[in-house]
Amino acid sequence: MTTHHAFDVIIIGSGAAGLTAALGLADQARVAILSKDLLPVSSTSWAQGGIAAVLSDDDRLEAHVEDTLVAGAGLCHPQSVRYVVERGPAAIDWLVQQGVSFDTEAGPDGNPRFHLAQEGGHSHRRILHAADATGSAVSSSLLERVRAKPNIELFEHFVAVDLLVQEKLGLPGTGCSGVYALNRLSGRVEVFEAPFVVLATGGASKVYLYTSNPDGSTGDGIAMAWRAGCRVANMEFNQFHPTCLFHPQAKSFLLSEALRGEGGLLRLPSGERFMDRFHPRAELAPRDVVARAIDFEMKRLGADCLFLDVTHIDPDKLASHFPNILRRCAELGIDICREPIPVVPAAHYTCGGIVTDRHGRTDVPGLYAVGECSFTGLHGANRMASNSLLECVVFARAASADILTQLPGTKAAPHAPAWDESQVTDSDEDVVISHNWDELRHFMWDYVGIVRTNKRLARARHRIDLLRREIHEYYSNYKVSNDLIELRNLALVADLIIQSAQSRRESRGLHYTLDYPDQIATPRDTLLTPSPRRLDINGNRDWQFEWP
Ligand code: FAD
Ligand code: SIN
Repeated sequence: MTTHHAFDVIIIGSGAAGLTAALGLADQARVAILSKDLLPVSSTSWAQGGIAAVLSDDDRLEAHVEDTLVAGAGLCHPQSVRYVVERGPAAIDWLVQQGVSFDTEAGPDGNPRFHLAQEGGHSHRRILHAADATGSAVSSSLLERVRAKPNIELFEHFVAVDLLVQEKLGLPGTGCSGVYALNRLSGRVEVFEAPFVVLATGGASKVYLYTSNPDGSTGDGIAMAWRAGCRVANMEFNQFHPTCLFHPQAKSFLLSEALRGEGGLLRLPSGERFMDRFHPRAELAPRDVVARAIDFEMKRLGADCLFLDVTHIDPDKLASHFPNILRRCAELGIDICREPIPVVPAAHYTCGGIVTDRHGRTDVPGLYAVGECSFTGLHGANRMASNSLLECVVFARAASADILTQLPGTKAAPHAPAWDESQVTDSDEDVVISHNWDELRHFMWDYVGIVRTNKRLARARHRIDLLRREIHEYYSNYKVSNDLIELRNLALVADLIIQSAQSRRESRGLHYTLDYPDQIATPRDTLLTPSPRRLDINGNRDWQFEWP
């Protein structure tokens, strides 16, 4: 017997975007939050540096807009940038109302004011933070509020497999009406029905071998939306954070850009500084420039890593602003007050994603996307530090407000068919999954990484075609598991990244290719449309084909 659940709104993901959307809805709607791991497991919980917003008297909204546009290298949508920046102060007020406690300091009048940090690309100090664990403070406060709402039901260890698209399933309406989700504890796929579904599934940095992200950043929402018929944009812009800790026992540990904001210096193994050779803002250049400079110097010198030096910064300041970084490095035998920290770049943020409007609406009626899985036009070719959490809050609030205006008068979602397992058996060859997972992440790192070429992209194209065929065959024959769902999604997202990278014949922001080192005069977003996206005579989509 398949379990069916019915709600007004289903939110997939429990990071900043999903939790913010849920809190915006919960007083008037019955909401389910699905999360494939424990609720606090998300990129949000790992965020360090903070959230950008214009709050100081000597800063201006115009300056935040201008900095974002410059970092975005000509591809930000100016209206989206302005939309988010203008809503920054209200987003911070809302977070404070939810109990998030940002660091303060004494102002000139002796009264407390927010302590504002600085990060790459920002012309002013405008990063609100909770020491170096801002994301954990945001996540725990929002989760506490969510848990107190009787209208919100929480489903931990439920991994969404695919969206219910009514045309595809032969149901009476149009658009999205829920999701199939694997209960990881029982191993059964359950049906969740609702007239509104919000994807808040985060990014896809796990497509690369080295990443700052938690294991769940496998692009599930982007892949599900694509299969449901949504366009995706700018998938070639994968942000690599310049400074992840290089240590055999430190998987994915980030060294916040705020360390450079407080004066941290990047050095070669010889001790020489080098960033001033690459950009006038040196260590505080936009992130793409710093990551590429480190990559260039590592390759030139054949070095395994470079170094971040904070030994000249007051140890008391390091202890008060960066207690977690200090502690984690000390656990690994690195005293950051006395010795430079070994660093390497790692995949950090997915700038592209599911195309949405200002309300978070996607191309499929009833389906919304917010947070890192979405493409709102804010980030252009390179996201500026600490603009991401802000985007999560602003668009999740917009999406929940939009859903609430539509909810009265919306019919309940139709009853969907049970998940069909009649054609599949238990897998006896899980090695296919682990092998393909490793192979994918290796070739994406080597061929579709910080520096690209036509030949490398063509090699990646060849491999992804083979892999996707093999994964499709496996998926058609065996029961789904979390690893299989993630691998299938990662492979699709890798394909979208490669297609997008191949179609951009210039170097811009995070996409740098030796074959086209210059910028074209009139840059455009890379828009991919699920193909063929045929419409019948009544404008309905024809679902009788295999999605690529
Ligand atoms: P996430 O927080 O990643 O949450 C995604 C959620 O979706 C998770 O709960 C996950 O379990 C769930 N999920 C995914 N797929 C499925 C599925 N199939 N079924 C069910 N659930 C699913 N940004 C800033 O602005 N400032 C910072 O200081 C900052 N520091 C960062 C530091 C680190 C180490 C990292 C990794 C990122 C940092 N970022 C920062 C980026 C920022 O944290 C993320 O972009 C942002 O938190 C994304 O939020 P989200 O809600 O969109 O997704
Ligand atoms: C950091 O703290 O360096 C990460 C900030 C971000 O990714 O926005």
